[in-house]
Amino acid sequence: MREDMRDILLDRAEIARRVKELGRQITEDYRGETPLLVCILKGSVVFFADLIRAIDLPVQLEFMTASSYGSATVSSGEVKIKSDLDEKIFGRHVILVEDIIDSGRTIAYIRADMLKKGVKSLRVCSLLDKPDRRVSEVAADYVGFTIPDEFVVGYGLDFDQMYRNFPDIGVLKPEKYEKTAD
Ligand code: IMP
Ligand code: MG
Repeated sequence: MREDMRDILLDRAEIARRVKELGRQITEDYRGETPLLVCILKGSVVFFADLIRAIDLPVQLEFMTASSYGSATVSSGEVKIKSDLDEKIFGRHVILVEDIIDSGRTIAYIRADMLKKGVKSLRVCSLLDKPDRRVSEVAADYVGFTIPDEFVVGYGLDFDQMYRNFPDIGVLKPEKYEKTAD
């Protein structure tokens, strides 16, 4: 996979260091509580697995699926959610765990929906933030790295469902992005 990359933006050691810091921060902020961490699949799965082990608190875990991209590198703008968390989030301190906030539409949609469903508190933890592309007014409470407006893959993030298992975060060579399915 390395040979498909134009650049490595964040390597595994840098990511690991930052994820540990985020875990420490969450541990301090939620001391005495049992937060419910919600993994937004599929992109957050690798980050989520590392983050939860960096949090030294009793936590519970839930999973939901959101998609707004299809197979392109530009968001379709339409957010699709698959989740049955309604009663599980009621009265809980919820932390939504995202891989990246881009236009902000996904997280804005999920946030608004969860707030209507009676969470006790709601915060967003995103590994990456691409503020240049924001369409919806949303900000994460915890951000790993702020990155420039480039389409990145690896550490859970995909292009056309590929490269999620690449251990670093990088930008593909331009010709790799050309083969967009359908
Ligand atoms: P938003 O709704 O535009 O904020 O999009 C968020 C979702 O789009 C993320 O959860 C990712 O799945 C996907 N996404 C946005 N930017 C990238 C990227 O650079 N690489 C891979 N996926 C991305
Ligand atoms: Mg995603």
